[in-house]
Amino acid sequence: MKIAVAKGDGIGPEIMGATLRIFEANKVPLEYEFVDMGKWVFDKGFSNGMTPEAQIAIENLGLLFKGPMETPKGKGVKSINVTARKTWNTYANKRVFQSLHGVDTVFSKAGIPIDITIVRENIEDTYGGIEHMITHDVALSRRFITKPGSLQVIRYAFEMAKQKNARRISCGHKANIMKITDGLFLECFYEVAKEYPELKADDIIVDDLCMKLVTRPDTFDVVVLTNLQGDIVSDLCAGLVGGLGFAPSANIGDHISIFEAVHGTAPDIAGKNIANPTALLLSGISMLRHVGLTENAAVIENALLYTLESGVHTGDFGDKAKPSVNTTQFADAVISNFGRQPQSNPKPVIPNKPGTPTPFRLLQNAMMESVEIGNEDIVGVDLFIESNEQPHSIAVKCQRHAGVKFKLINISNRGTQVWPTGSVYTNLVNAYNVRFESLDDQPLNQQDILGLYISMSGNFKICSSELLNRWGDKKGYSLAQGQ
Ligand code: NAI
Repeated sequence: MKIAVAKGDGIGPEIMGATLRIFEANKVPLEYEFVDMGKWVFDKGFSNGMTPEAQIAIENLGLLFKGPMETPKGKGVKSINVTARKTWNTYANKRVFQSLHGVDTVFSKAGIPIDITIVRENIEDTYGGIEHMITHDVALSRRFITKPGSLQVIRYAFEMAKQKNARRISCGHKANIMKITDGLFLECFYEVAKEYPELKADDIIVDDLCMKLVTRPDTFDVVVLTNLQGDIVSDLCAGLVGGLGFAPSANIGDHISIFEAVHGTAPDIAGKNIANPTALLLSGISMLRHVGLTENAAVIENALLYTLESGVHTGDFGDKAKPSVNTTQFADAVISNFGRQPQSNPKPVIPNKPGTPTPFRLLQNAMMESVEIGNEDIVGVDLFIESNEQPHSIAVKCQRHAGVKFKLINISNRGTQVWPTGSVYTNLVNAYNVRFESLDDQPLNQQDILGLYISMSGNFKICSSELLNRWGDKKGYSLAQGQ
């Protein structure tokens, strides 16, 4: 069985070297194809941070084990880490946070065990990085939440929760504010929940989730979230179990999966051989289980847990009264503990049953589309215009352009209604959203919208626009604050 390995930047080569040495000592039956990815590949002129040969190898092998990679600052390049996850549709980012004996935290000292799995949506949300300055003062980011994308990650979370006999699966969200985007994610969560009646499924607003995670972390088991919220909440959870040095991560897709640590390249300690390899090793152990190497995974994990219990530690954690070891010595300690059982949470050694998900060659991009509910009607348009005039003057001009097909419904600024009603205490910026809807429910088409657009452009610079769509009774747009 062959997998692709990218050593990464900064501490990447050191911790990857330590991890592969542990695998080799345990006779893990894997072959490695080392691929060129990372900052140094950017620097050689490959704009996506990987060589074409690396991309072909990863797509052929279906598995990438990677070290952390640096995103060059201020060069307009996108993160190689995010590009890799998105390009290969690794839609579920699974991060397991467990209390480890030997790693003291506030909770371990209080005798509160933590075992939380965060499943973070990995493709969508603001991570599309689709951003524009629509006026010289106003930046706009597009946030994509899709039904097929949400169903894909949520179904993975439920299936994983079922396999681990989870006590509870929760959806973290902000659907009370982002009713359309997070509302869709939450709707998908409860749609999938119906297929798993044996699991206790609930939802929680993300700010409340953060508060409860730091006060009662033991009450959570599996939590599924959208991309950005999941990113933030998972770092919070890393803090609960001792920091980023103990946070593994698996990016799971149907065809290609990527295993890596949550932490970055740690440039402050790179090249010193003092980094903690635990997070990458835990990610590697989870990769071994993913490919059916359950016996190797258990022996290595038990040795790691035993090593931590016995007080061996790198400089970033552990008992400061005891001298720390370096990366190489930490790996040596794990190797010397093969066959030993930790006192707490020993992993059952189940014989290997290798059966890697064989990479399935795709010939074209998969289109994921759900069945439409009801007919789609265009009922109006939101035009985002640049103006520094007062709302009532804008309204007078807009009403002139409304003609016989449209009526001006409202004007908002940064999402707060300022016309027909509003408050002079609402500060304004030079981008307004003017909403037009069909007059007397006349059917509208794109030509009608373009006519309005052209007419309005006589008075205003139109920075952006969105159709107002309706499917049956279901409105596909939000109301302005105060509307
Ligand atoms: P970082 O995770 O690299 O470092 C944060 C702090 O944690 C530093 O003090 C570092 O020394 C410490 N730390 C991290 N991993 C450690 C380990 N294994 N052992 C001991 N201490 C450790 O985050 P930062 O500084 O924000 O990012 C540095 C670079 O890493 C950036 O270029 C960033 O883009 C990249 N990055 C890459 C990721 C990936 O490849 N998946 C994830 C996060 C950041």
